[in-house]
Amino acid sequence: MEIKTVGVLGCGLMGAGIAQVAASAGYTTVVREVEQSLLDRGLGRIRKFLDDGVQKGKVAAEDRDRTLANLSGTTGFDDLADCDIVIEAIVENLETKRAAYAGLEAVVGHHTILASNTSSLCITELAAATTRPDRFVGLHFFNPVPLMKLVEVIRGLTTTDETYRAAFDFAKSLGKEAITAPDRPGFIVNRLLVPYMLDAIRAYENGLGTLEDIDLGMKLGCGHPMGPFTLLDFVGLDTTYYIANIMFEEFREPVYAPPPLLKRMVLAGRLGRKSGRGFYSY
Ligand code: CAA
Ligand code: NAD
Repeated sequence: MEIKTVGVLGCGLMGAGIAQVAASAGYTTVVREVEQSLLDRGLGRIRKFLDDGVQKGKVAAEDRDRTLANLSGTTGFDDLADCDIVIEAIVENLETKRAAYAGLEAVVGHHTILASNTSSLCITELAAATTRPDRFVGLHFFNPVPLMKLVEVIRGLTTTDETYRAAFDFAKSLGKEAITAPDRPGFIVNRLLVPYMLDAIRAYENGLGTLEDIDLGMKLGCGHPMGPFTLLDFVGLDTTYYIANIMFEEFREPVYAPPPLLKRMVLAGRLGRKSGRGFYSY
C-alpha cells in the first residue's frame, strides 16, 4: 500500500491542518470543502500559518513554497479520484459523514484507504457505512495539527492488519508520534480530556470562579499550556457539544453529559475562536 496522493475531506480547523502537514511531508494533497468560500478560508489559514512560520524563522521559505505547491483545493469529489488515502475531517455527525463517504466512494479506487479524524464516533460503525470496512481506520489528529505531535491510530473490528500498519506508518511519515487507541468513544485522549473540559463548565456554572481565574489556575497551577475555557474556545464549542453527546449516549455516565451552558452557547452561535466569540471574544 504505497501512499503518494492524499485526500482530505473538510478544510475547517482540523482538515486544514491535516492537509498542511500532508503537503509539507511531500504528499500530493487535495482538500475538499463544500463551498468555495469555506475552501478559500481554510486554504488562507494554511497560507497564514506558513507565512507566520517563515517570519518566526520556524519554516524555511522554500519549504513553505513546496508545501503550497503540493496542495490543491476543490469543492467536488472527482479531484480525489487518484488518492491512495483520504482523511475525513468534517463535522462530528454520523449521517453527514456517511453521506460524504458515499460521494467519495463513487470516485476513489478499490485500494484507497479511508480514515476518519472523528473525536468520538465508533470507527467500526463508520467503517460499516462504507463499501471498504477492511480499508477503514481511525486517524485522530490534535488541534493545532501542525504543532501537536500526537496521532491516535484506531482499528475497528473490520480493519485489516495491512490497513492499520499503512495508517500507522503514514502518521509517522508526517513527523507525528503515533499511538494505538481502542475503538471506544473518545479513544484515549478525549476519554480523559472531555470530562475535564465539561467539568470546568459545570464548575463555572456553579460559581467556582471567573473564567480568567479558572484558566489561570489550571495554567499556572498545573502547567497546562491553556486553561480549560481557552481550550474549549480553541477546540470549538459546537464540536465539544457533539462529542459530549456521543460519549454520553455511549457511556450513560453524568461526567459526559453536556452542561446546559454549553448547549446554550452553541444555540447562540458562540462557537469559540472560529465564530469570533465563545467564552471569550476574539
Ligand atoms: N509555524 C511554525 N511553528 C510555529 C508557528 C508557525 N506558524 N507558530 C508557532 N510555532 C511554534 C513556535 O515557534 C513554538 O516553537 P518552540 O516551542 O520551538 O519555541 C511552538 O510552535 C509553540 O508556539 P507559540 O509559542 O507561539 O504558542 P504557545 O507556546 O502558546 O503554544 C499551543 C500554542 C501549541 C497551541 C499550546 O497553547 C497548546 O499546546 N495548547 C493546548 C492545545 C491542546 O490541548 N490541543 C488538543 C485539543 S483536543 C483535540 O485536539 C482532540 C479533539 O478531538 C477535540
Ligand atoms: P470545523 O467545523 O472547523 O470544520 C468542519 C468542516 O467540514 C467545515 O468547514 C464544513 O464546511 C466541512 N464539511 C462538512 N461536510 C463536508 C463534506 N461533505 N465534504 C467536505 N467538507 C465538509 O470542525 P473541526 O474542528 O475541523 O472538526 C472536524 C472533525 O475533526 C470532527 O469529526 C471533529 O470531531 C474532529 N476533531 C476536532 C478537533 C478539534 O479540536 N476541533 C480535534 C480532533 C478531531
